[in-house]
Amino acid sequence: MIDFKEELISLLKQNIDSLTHEEIGKLIEIPPSYDMGDFAFPVFKLAKEYKKAPNIIAKELESKLANNVNFERIEAVGPYLNFFINKEKLASEVLNEIKEKKDKYGSTNVGEGKKVIVEFSSPNIAKPFHIGHIRSTVIGNSLSKIYKFLGFDVVTINHLGDYGTQFGMLISAYKRWGDKEIIEKDPIRELLKLYVRFNSEAENNPELMEEARHWFKKLEDKDEEALNLWKWIRDISLKEFNRVYDLLNIKFDSYAGESFYSDKMPAVVEEMKEKGLLKESEGALIVDLEPYGMPPALIMKKDGSTLYTTRDIAAAIYRKEHYDFYKNIYVVASQQNLHFKAWIKILELMGYEWARDCIHVPFGMVSLEEGTLSTRKGRVVFLEDVLNTAIERTKEVIEERNPNLPNKEEVAKQVGIGAVVFQELFNQRIKDYTFSWERTLSFEGETGPYVQYTHARANSLLEKGNYDQSYEISYKDLTKEEETNILRNLYGFSEVIIDSMEKNEPYFITRHILELAKLFNKYYNSTSIIVEDEKLKQTRLSLVYAVKTAIKTGLSLLGIEAPNKM
Ligand code: ARG
Repeated sequence: MIDFKEELISLLKQNIDSLTHEEIGKLIEIPPSYDMGDFAFPVFKLAKEYKKAPNIIAKELESKLANNVNFERIEAVGPYLNFFINKEKLASEVLNEIKEKKDKYGSTNVGEGKKVIVEFSSPNIAKPFHIGHIRSTVIGNSLSKIYKFLGFDVVTINHLGDYGTQFGMLISAYKRWGDKEIIEKDPIRELLKLYVRFNSEAENNPELMEEARHWFKKLEDKDEEALNLWKWIRDISLKEFNRVYDLLNIKFDSYAGESFYSDKMPAVVEEMKEKGLLKESEGALIVDLEPYGMPPALIMKKDGSTLYTTRDIAAAIYRKEHYDFYKNIYVVASQQNLHFKAWIKILELMGYEWARDCIHVPFGMVSLEEGTLSTRKGRVVFLEDVLNTAIERTKEVIEERNPNLPNKEEVAKQVGIGAVVFQELFNQRIKDYTFSWERTLSFEGETGPYVQYTHARANSLLEKGNYDQSYEISYKDLTKEEETNILRNLYGFSEVIIDSMEKNEPYFITRHILELAKLFNKYYNSTSIIVEDEKLKQTRLSLVYAVKTAIKTGLSLLGIEAPNKM
C-alpha cells in the first residue's frame, strides 16, 4: 500500500534543498479537520533558502507542486501548504490491500526474529483471583496478540504466586481446621476462608505466624508433607483458574511461577554476594538502594528464606538464559511500581545490560459501582462470577432482541465476555476505573456489544447482497465524505497497531475500531448499500467487507470474538 506521507515528503524534497527528507517529515502536521487537508506543511523553515515571506513561499510551492496523482488538491493557506489525498486513490489502495491481506490486514513483520515474553495474570494461589486480576489477564492477553500480529515470537508466562509465606499460612491453617473433602468441592472459596480465618486468628495469637513461617521453611527445605500439601493446593487452584482462562480463551506457554525458581535462588544470592551488592542488616541480607532514592531491598531473611524480590531477580536471569528475549514484559498493577523499579535496578547493578529490556507495564485499579455485585467488606468479587453474570445478562438481552438466533448460548458467551474485555481495554491502562454493568453490557454507545453488533450487521449485508470479491468495482464511487472517512480510518489501522505495541496500550485499538464502527453506522444510515445497480452494489459491499475485516481483526487483537450473527 502506498504511503501517502512518504510520497508527500518526496514531493516536497524535490523543491527544497535546505532540509533533509527526515527534517521535512518531522515538520508535516495533521490539520485539526479534514476541510483543511489530510496533511499540512508549514513553510517557516524555508525562509532562509527562499528569502521571502512565508505566505509567498507557500504560494510559490503550491504552483510548483500542482497536479499529482496522490493528491487531488494542494493549497497554500497563509504560511501553510495543505494537501488533500486523492480519494479515489485512497479507496483503491486500501481496498486492494485488504482484499489481498484479509485478516492479516494491518500486520507487518517488524517483530521478525525477536522474542518477546509477556508475563500476565499471575494470580496468587493462596489468595483469590478476583476482579482486580482481570486487568492483568485482559491487558496481557491483548498485548501478546498484538506482538504476535506484528511478527514477534511471543512467549506467554503465568508467573503464579505459588510460593512464599502465605503458603506457610495456608498449610498451617489447613492442618488446624481444614477438611479435604469440603475444600475439593469448592477449592478457591474454601482455601480463601481458611486464609482469612488464619489471618484474623493470628491477630490475637502470634504463635500462628511463627507456625506459618515454620511451614514455609519446611517447604523450602523440601519436607515431604509440606511439599505434598503445597502440590495439592496448587493443583486444585490451578484447575479453578483454568476455568476462567477457558472462558476467556486464554492459554499460557508456561506456568512457571515463583516456586519454579526456588532452587535457582542460592546461586543468584551467591552471585549478588560476589558482586558486592549484599549488606547484612539485623541478620538479613539487603541491597542498599538509597543512592537511587529507594528503600533497601530485602533479599534473604534471617532464617534463610527468600523473598518475592529475590524470586523476580532469579526469574529474569533464567528467562534471559532460557529465551534470550528482546523484551521481557510484566503486566502488573501499579501498586508494584516500586518493587519493579527496585529489582530491575538490582539487575542493572549486577551488570546485566539487558535489565533495560525488562519492562513493567503497570495499570490502575478497578473499583465496583455501588450495588454492582455484593462488595460488602471482606467479600471478594470473583472474576468467574463477573464473567458468568455478563453471559447470563447478555442471554436475556438476546432473548429479547433476537429470540430466533441460532447458537444463542455461544453468542451470549462471546458477547458477554467481549463486553467485559472491551470495557477493560477502553481507557489508558494506568487510569483507575469503575466497573458498571450498565455501561458494559449496552448494545448502544461505546461498548463491545455495539462494535460486535456492527460487525454482524456488515456481515449480514455481505450475505444479503451476495458480495463477490472478483467483481470489478468502481473506486470513484467511493469518494463521498462518509466513505472517505471510513477509508481514512482503515488506512491508519496499521499505524495504530504499531503504536499500541510500542506503548503497550491496547486501548488505541479499542478506540480506533470503535470509531470505525461509528463511521460505518453513519454510512449505513445515509446510504443504501443493497441497490439495483450491481456494480454500485458490489462497490459499496467491498467497503463493507473492508470494515468487517478490520473490526474483526481489531477485536481479535483485544481478545474478543466477533460473531457473524447476534
Ligand atoms: N502474584 C502477584 C500478585 O498477584 C503478581 C506477580 C507479578 N509478577 C512478577 N513477576 N512479580 O500480586
